[in-house]
Amino acid sequence: MSKFIVHPIDKLEGEIVVGGAKNGVLPLMASVLLTAEPCVIHDVPDLKDVNVMIEILKVIGAKIEWEGSSLHIEVPKILKNEAPYEYVSKMRASFDVMGPLLARTGVARVPMPGGCSIGERPIDLHIKGFKALGATIEFGHGFVEARAEKLVGASVYLDFPSFGATKNIMMAATMAEGVTMIENAAKEPEIVDLANFLNQIGAKISGAGTDTIKITGVKSFGGAIHRAIPDRIEAGTYLIMAAMNKSNVLVKNVVTSHLKAVISKLIECGVQVIPEGDNVRVISDGKLKAVDITTLPHPGFPTDLQAQFMSLLTVAEGSSVIMETVFENRFMHVSEFNRMGANIKIEGHSALIQGGAKLQGTEVKATDLRAGAALVLAALVADGETSVHDIYHIDRGYNNLESKLQTLGVKIERIQD
Ligand code: EPZ
Repeated sequence: MSKFIVHPIDKLEGEIVVGGAKNGVLPLMASVLLTAEPCVIHDVPDLKDVNVMIEILKVIGAKIEWEGSSLHIEVPKILKNEAPYEYVSKMRASFDVMGPLLARTGVARVPMPGGCSIGERPIDLHIKGFKALGATIEFGHGFVEARAEKLVGASVYLDFPSFGATKNIMMAATMAEGVTMIENAAKEPEIVDLANFLNQIGAKISGAGTDTIKITGVKSFGGAIHRAIPDRIEAGTYLIMAAMNKSNVLVKNVVTSHLKAVISKLIECGVQVIPEGDNVRVISDGKLKAVDITTLPHPGFPTDLQAQFMSLLTVAEGSSVIMETVFENRFMHVSEFNRMGANIKIEGHSALIQGGAKLQGTEVKATDLRAGAALVLAALVADGETSVHDIYHIDRGYNNLESKLQTLGVKIERIQD
């Protein structure tokens, strides 16, 4: 187990570069299972979760090589229709292999992913989609198994615009006979990126990024070379960090249209957010006004930036309310912030934050990936040194966070416990 020792900073200055999107790259990698032809994905972040996906794909039959930050993936033959438990238990996104495996071979067997620290996280909507396409589903011995002689296009209405279900059903439907319509689909930029990649290898998908996605099945796929989109959550984390401090920071490799809800809240807080081509400059005097936040599926305020924004609101002037509507248990970080001197109460799905706290450095622990990043942000404005424990969570989604922050003058060290 490692920890970060983080020191407060007077002013953030310089440039910080955002990598490829973790939550976009994982399904891109899984989708390569659809084709026997070689594919290359550029701008892949070297993260724990990406490496877990590499191991799963290798077990299934993929040949994978890194070349700098590019991944060369080729799956000439499916050797095993199953994802091993040891990896799926580490990462829920392993479930992404279900759709493409089912489409390519007619059989997919994946351990039930189970809940995690932020919520129950059922897979009923994925299953509803596979069934609608004609698969039979069996649960047993901790596994879910899908089988289909052939998949046939169908209409699937998602009760909630689930990111995971949308990408899995979209991948499964690419080879189904006829047309599939996914209604009330997730609209995240990573869904659009996945659809673009699938279309590059030969799929026929339209409407990605709207609530209705149309997929016309095809018989086979080719290869493609594709660049992953920038990680909007990593970018948002740096924008919020810059806002919280006196700063003049250029965040590089950002698609501002992916972050409208966050940028508009930062501006409401009194921060200057200036787009400069593919980059965004944040100028702040660190004096912030409180604002209310409600997390929602895209294009609403992302749940993956809720903890980081809460960090900001603990020090903003005034009181605010954060309502978490996507996950039922994503407030584990509240008690850690309160240990640092924040004044936050939880009432049902809302966190009531009395701002203006003078945060104090202490020992805290990351309870999940984004909560961990949020604690690092809090540590930068706290009085004294903070130790953030359990940073293996942070490593799942932020590549070399400490080196990147050091480019802005932050004093942060990784200590092996
Ligand atoms: C993805 O999770 C992301 N993970 C999450 O990022 C992100 O928070 C989430 O989307 C929402 O944006 C990856 O991409 C690996 P969902 P996913 O299906 O696909 C319920 C991070 O920090 N639901 O949109 O699991 C579910 O319980 C992580 O990087 C069902 O009820 O999200 C949840 O309440 C954490 N039935 C809500 O929908 C289902 O079948 C959103 O889940 C599926 C989901």
